[in-house]
Amino acid sequence: MKLQVVLSLCAVLAVSLQAPSPEQCGCEITNSGDDFPHDKLSTADGNASDCNRNITPNKTVELESLLLGLERRIAQLHKDVSVLEREDDGELYGVLSLYVIENEMVEIRHLMDRLNSTTETDQHLTADAVQQLRALRVEMREMETFDTAQVVRGRLDNELLRMDLNDCQNGLNATPPPTQPPPRTCAHGQLQNVTGPRVFTKGEYPGSYPYGAWGRDPEPEPGKESWYWLVMMTSGNKFSNYIRLYSSLSSLIVGKSVPGNVDIHPSNPTTNTIQGPNNVLYRGALYYNCYNQPEVCRFNLTTKKVTNFRLPEGTRYNSKGNFCQLDECYPFTDLDLATDESGVWVTYTTSQDFGNLVLSKVEEGEPPRLGQTWHTSIYKQAITNTFMACGVLYATRFKTKGVEEIFYALDTVTGKERFNLGILMNKMAPKIQALNYSPVDQMLHAYSDANMVSYKALFA
Ligand SMILES: *[C@@H]1O[C@H](CO)[C@@H](O)[C@H](O)[C@H]1NC(C)=O
Ligand SMILES: *[C@@H]1O[C@H](CO)[C@@H](O)[C@H](O)[C@H]1NC(C)=O
Ligand SMILES: *[C@@H]1O[C@H](CO)[C@@H](O)[C@H](O)[C@H]1NC(C)=O
Ligand SMILES: *[C@@H]1O[C@H](CO)[C@@H](O)[C@H](O)[C@H]1NC(C)=O
Ligand SMILES: *[C@@H]1O[C@H](CO)[C@@H](O)[C@H](O)[C@H]1NC(C)=O
Repeated sequence: MKLQVVLSLCAVLAVSLQAPSPEQCGCEITNSGDDFPHDKLSTADGNASDCNRNITPNKTVELESLLLGLERRIAQLHKDVSVLEREDDGELYGVLSLYVIENEMVEIRHLMDRLNSTTETDQHLTADAVQQLRALRVEMREMETFDTAQVVRGRLDNELLRMDLNDCQNGLNATPPPTQPPPRTCAHGQLQNVTGPRVFTKGEYPGSYPYGAWGRDPEPEPGKESWYWLVMMTSGNKFSNYIRLYSSLSSLIVGKSVPGNVDIHPSNPTTNTIQGPNNVLYRGALYYNCYNQPEVCRFNLTTKKVTNFRLPEGTRYNSKGNFCQLDECYPFTDLDLATDESGVWVTYTTSQDFGNLVLSKVEEGEPPRLGQTWHTSIYKQAITNTFMACGVLYATRFKTKGVEEIFYALDTVTGKERFNLGILMNKMAPKIQALNYSPVDQMLHAYSDANMVSYKALFA
């Protein structure tokens, strides 16, 4: 009887495996009688789980999220069009606004295409599934002639034995288990590429202020999700005393600032003035280099209060530790504030690091304070700017007037540095005064010789 053959075979295997010789693992199988159609069962099994995997619940989730995305996009388009209509003042409307609408139409088109291909695949899947389920039923009827429960059990035992055998062999090869890297709190891997520019605008003051920064608050207050911020160095390319807010991307592009400015102080410069362009807005507060201090200031836009903390002794400030390109440096870029999925960061340099770049986490809280610190081996004057994405620090360098290279990365989880990333960015102007990553939409926002330019960051 076949079943007994299978079972006693298992017993033999189990016995022979109990005392494996140190040099070899193995077992001999001899069988007699009709073979149980394992192949057929295995295919049927495979087909059934394929069916399951293909149909539920991923497809539903994918379909739902695509539909949700479409709904959001259309709402946004509707909003932007009506904003633009209100702001229509003749020429401006035609020239600048079409860019935004075009961007949104492209995204909607992408969503539509994906939705279309998803529904088509689903139709095929459903048709295939019905056919496969019919075939499976026939197959299973045939197999009922065998004692299924026992056979399946036998298969399971054999499978376990096979695994033991593998373990035994692996033990002989004595390969150490792979070491797992520590868990990452962010879903994205390494930055792979940067495409764009996706947005390019001269904004409200074309050509007026070559130093500045702009972007989106990654953790905005409710109702301010589509807002953008802009800080321009309005005094000598060095200082600023206010933040300018725009209620949407199209407002920023057409240069209609609603709700307008939030002032830190009426004088410029004075205590708590923004010094240097590399600032970020996070949770409704601006983080920046305080006027005339080696300090990070945080200006709460709601309460208008400034709190701060000092960087380590030896930190270079007042234009002594700047970013540079070729033989020209960017004045007052001693501190570079950055945001990513995990919050706020700051890069700077110190005397004891001999001008090499230093990275610190900024701990939120009242007051904010200096968190964990990493010492890099890149010289700050050899880089144009830095940004953080998914716990990785990236640095760029000037390649040509039209191309910037993201060449360096420091992974704060593993502590590993890389110097040859070779990711290229097409510039709209030769210089980059500020570069920030927005975890909300994985965009890189660059302030480049008074232009606002954004790029899409693509991850592994
Ligand atoms: C289903 O979704 C999970 C998690 O999102 C993913 O790991 C898995 O590969 C998906 N399966 C298929 C068949 O797409
Ligand atoms: C969906 O795809 C099919 C086949 O590729 C095409 O004929 C059809 O026009 C597409 N529909 C839309 C709305 O894009
Ligand atoms: C299982 O799928 C394969 C390939 O799709 C097919 O050839 C076979 O007939 C299917 N078997 C059953 C029992 O559905
Ligand atoms: C990066 O993107 C650019 C522009 O889309 C493309 O030409 C290039 O091949 C991409 N590089 C890689 C490594 O994917
Ligand atoms: C700003 O102040 C408000 C009111 O005290 C507070 O709720 C909020 O958390 C503050 N924001 C930051 C980033 O500290």
